[in-house]
Amino acid sequence: MIHLRGGSADVVIDESSGAPTLVYWGAPLGEVDPSTILAALHRPVQQGSLDVVAPISVLPEHGSGFQGRPGLGGHRRGGTAWSPRFLPVSATRLVSGVRTEAVDPVAKLRLVTTITLNEVLAVQCTVINEGESRYLVDAVHPTLPVPAQASELLTFDGRWTREFHPVRRAWATGTWLSESRAGRTSHEHQPTLFAGTPGFGEWHGEVWGMHVAWSGNHTMVAEALPDGRRYLQGGELLHPGEVSLEPGGSYASPTVLGTYSSDGLTPASWGFHRHARHLPARPRSPRPVLLNTWEAVYFDHDTDRLKELASAAAAVGIERFVLDDGWFGSRRDDHRGLGDWWVSPEVYPNGLAPLISHVRGLGMEFGIWVEPEMVNPDSDLYRAHPEWALVTDGYDPVLARHQLVLNLAHPDAFAHVLGQLDALLRDHDVAYVKWDMNRNHVQGSGVRGTAGTHEQTLAFYRLLDALRERHPNVEFESCASGGARIDFEVLRRAERVWTSDCNDALERQTIQWGASMLIPPELMGAHIGPTRSHTTGRMHSLAFRAVTALLGHLGVEWNVLTLDDIERAQLADTIALHKRFRDLAHSGDVVRFDPVANGQQPASHAYGVYARDRSEALVVHAQLVTGISLLPPPLRLPGLDATARYRVEHVPMPGSAWVWAQSGIELTGAQLATHGIQLPRQHPESGVLLHLVRV
Ligand code: DGJ
Repeated sequence: MIHLRGGSADVVIDESSGAPTLVYWGAPLGEVDPSTILAALHRPVQQGSLDVVAPISVLPEHGSGFQGRPGLGGHRRGGTAWSPRFLPVSATRLVSGVRTEAVDPVAKLRLVTTITLNEVLAVQCTVINEGESRYLVDAVHPTLPVPAQASELLTFDGRWTREFHPVRRAWATGTWLSESRAGRTSHEHQPTLFAGTPGFGEWHGEVWGMHVAWSGNHTMVAEALPDGRRYLQGGELLHPGEVSLEPGGSYASPTVLGTYSSDGLTPASWGFHRHARHLPARPRSPRPVLLNTWEAVYFDHDTDRLKELASAAAAVGIERFVLDDGWFGSRRDDHRGLGDWWVSPEVYPNGLAPLISHVRGLGMEFGIWVEPEMVNPDSDLYRAHPEWALVTDGYDPVLARHQLVLNLAHPDAFAHVLGQLDALLRDHDVAYVKWDMNRNHVQGSGVRGTAGTHEQTLAFYRLLDALRERHPNVEFESCASGGARIDFEVLRRAERVWTSDCNDALERQTIQWGASMLIPPELMGAHIGPTRSHTTGRMHSLAFRAVTALLGHLGVEWNVLTLDDIERAQLADTIALHKRFRDLAHSGDVVRFDPVANGQQPASHAYGVYARDRSEALVVHAQLVTGISLLPPPLRLPGLDATARYRVEHVPMPGSAWVWAQSGIELTGAQLATHGIQLPRQHPESGVLLHLVRV
């Protein structure tokens, strides 16, 4: 038995079950002999069931009598070796975990499992074919048991421009299933869920979170078994025949991450955030405020106009200027040009150098957009190499945004794109790459003629890794039509995500609220868009757009050449305000407070960041729709230093006339948590910012 201790959770592992079993995952246990946990939780055989109680191991086995979804699926030719049962071989202690090996001498498979407990629980399984024939893998899905009291689920609905919408559901019986076949993490099926005690909230209830760290197709399952046990399971979704192991070959599952808190969802999400803050690509410098040109100029590129835009951007305090889609090949609209990663002489007759040196001369960094995994049929690349498209021969391919996926698992295609991107970064002074991916996979067959998403996903990682290695000072953003590729495997190699193509502040309130359960604010691209949102047509004050974007990795996606003097001054003041607070916002603990509902929907959102040492805090109260009552209930702020006194200041957002007469009031952390503070009424679609300082 192995007892792992994390900060806020313990895990007890029985390594004798072949595929090891998480016997316990929950609140810290203190000093205890782990074998007593096994004894205490021992389940006797019951009438009406098998004569064994098969464990919910990290890869539960049908062959051992497990009646739910097996963790490992696969077979050899003729359908043999389809139901393995592993025997333990070894367990090796790691610094904060264990690596186990197990074999099935009948199916001739070896299983290597790594389980670690740091900021998060991490489980990864590798299957090795030790037989003399090919083994076809259908699924390797690491599995995390959760206790019976975890009977409510929080999952995320989504679509383009509406990512990360939280959905609560009772989970009394049965299976909840979410699958992405999009070839990317997807808008629709964010691979994150939380299970908790009934009614769990931001600061109360036990919560177990799971995330599948993978950027291709995935499966995520929560099943309540008829015998009363429950588990969360996730991994890569493989198409038929997509992975086959020759003798000696192996398949490594994605890592499945878990986070636990006995005190609600907000502390549970700190596990994910702290994990993000330890990833290899974590940001290591203050996040530069950027201007992205997409909604400012779309495909209408002109060096002189872009220089003017850059000058206007620098004048309001922008630190990074990002040139979006439209600078390359024949890309004058979204019908053509993808794949031709050379600067268009048509729109940039003197290359990008004049624009870049202008941007650099203004003291800003230069960033550039690419979409390397794609090709338009109307492109030089496709005309030269139609065989590099990820399609199935004999069928007319399904297009999306007039484009096809480029098969990066094809060595020549990979080398070609790597060469072009490498040259782009070598020949230009580029600090940042916005890496986009704008279509789902459909019927994509790889080099062998079999389903190609698995190989493509690995090739995508290899390409990004190769570029990062060659250009270690360049930062990357993971964008996929907004937030369709937000996961912890891509975040090993990206400093930022583009959270959504929707810059409507009202929509963003919910999108970012949901996303904040997985990622910390410094990774979350949050832009101030135009007064009238390009994706919803809704209009918002600059103050609301600003407060909504303020705590994230701030950007501006607005043609700042069109601003009047007042707007320009207010935007500059907003950017200055962000810079004043960004160290706190980007290093502290994210907090959310249970929303006040108006029917089924939250009427307001309150959220913010507490300094790790609780010396300071930022809290935003955003009114989304009108409340049921004349005044919202007092805002209670749990989780501060109970005995310390805090001065609570209202920080006016530029352009907002809202005032709080009690600004400057001093209260203890305990008072803020128990009776809280009464805010006056706010208009719907407005937000206020409070700054708390320990006195
Ligand atoms: C989708 C992205 O999400 C947008 O921000 C923009 O970069 C467009 N693609 C460009 O085609």
